[in-house]
Amino acid sequence: MKTRITEMFGIQHPIIQGGMHYVGFAEMAAAVSNAGGLGIITGLTQRTPELLANEIRRCREMTDKPFGVNLTFLPSLSTPDYPGYIKAIIDGGVKAVETAGNNPAKWLPVLKEAGIKVIHKCTSVRHSLKAEAIGCDAVSVDGFECGGHPGEDDVPNFILLPRAAEELKIPFVASGGMADGRSLVAALALGAEGMNMGTRFIATKEAPVHENVKRAIVAASELDTRLVMRPLRNTERVLTNAAVERLLVKERELGSNIKFEDIIEEVAGVYPKIMTDGEMDAGAWSCGMVAGLIHDIPTCKELIDRIMSEAESIIQQRLTRFL
Ligand SMILES: Cc1cc2nc3c(=O)[nH]c(=O)nc-3n(C[C@H](O)[C@H](O)[C@H](O)COP(=O)(O)O)c2cc1C
Repeated sequence: MKTRITEMFGIQHPIIQGGMHYVGFAEMAAAVSNAGGLGIITGLTQRTPELLANEIRRCREMTDKPFGVNLTFLPSLSTPDYPGYIKAIIDGGVKAVETAGNNPAKWLPVLKEAGIKVIHKCTSVRHSLKAEAIGCDAVSVDGFECGGHPGEDDVPNFILLPRAAEELKIPFVASGGMADGRSLVAALALGAEGMNMGTRFIATKEAPVHENVKRAIVAASELDTRLVMRPLRNTERVLTNAAVERLLVKERELGSNIKFEDIIEEVAGVYPKIMTDGEMDAGAWSCGMVAGLIHDIPTCKELIDRIMSEAESIIQQRLTRFL
């Protein structure tokens, strides 16, 4: 399948693996890239730019295909060394960067100078247009269904994607709720040129996370996610567990007086405990409603091959039958 996204990133299939904290290690990115998609290393999971440089080197040893790095600009307890991370990306010869969170305008000139294609993840048409205006090459349009931070507008992809198609000139991928060939065909029908998946890629053989995490995703239904940190305007969609229920009680009790410090135990520094140690109640971790569509733990190649053959048969057989 050829789209503006496959052409832009030099990949075989229009499928991107979104940056994921404590999941997007070299093993994850390389497995997706080797399967013909675009794998992404999560920059900030590496504590220093030196460690990111090393992760990029490790990924290159595992794949000769293109892969990218995610740079997330979200509120955090201490500001990361972004110039250092960007230098590691450029020096590492990476040609694709997924930015997310705050406006990446400040960092675009140096990335573009290095010939890097930038895809910015946005949860609204307004931010997508801004990304286009500041010179991003593509957008990942992230609907309300998504795992992680869906923003504060709550517009699901059945509306958000065609709205983005009405306004954008640069290509975009559909993100949030994408799982299979049906998702890809629907995304293409709504105007996207590919899809970005997060949660689906965690439940794969190569995802470098504890088996408990993969099993929790397979066991979860589409009813099992919750929105946390809404009162802080930093909404995150997470899988429900004991810590999340505790956090939601605090949100209800403290109302608009709640501060980040009140929920620090449930959200700060919890990812290694969950993703690496498999302590599933250690805190709030991002997960999409798409968990309801995830029933197995294939390899990345099995998953991507299955998506592409399912998409082709939907287009060639199911859809043409209706004409
Ligand atoms: C466990 C997890 C961690 C994530 N961490 C990040 C992150 O650090 N930066 C980022 O831009 N997006 C992050 N995301 C969002 C994904 O890149 C992607 O946009 C999202 O998962 C898409 O929705 P889906 O889960 O329905 O596929 C994360 C998602 C998950 C599930």
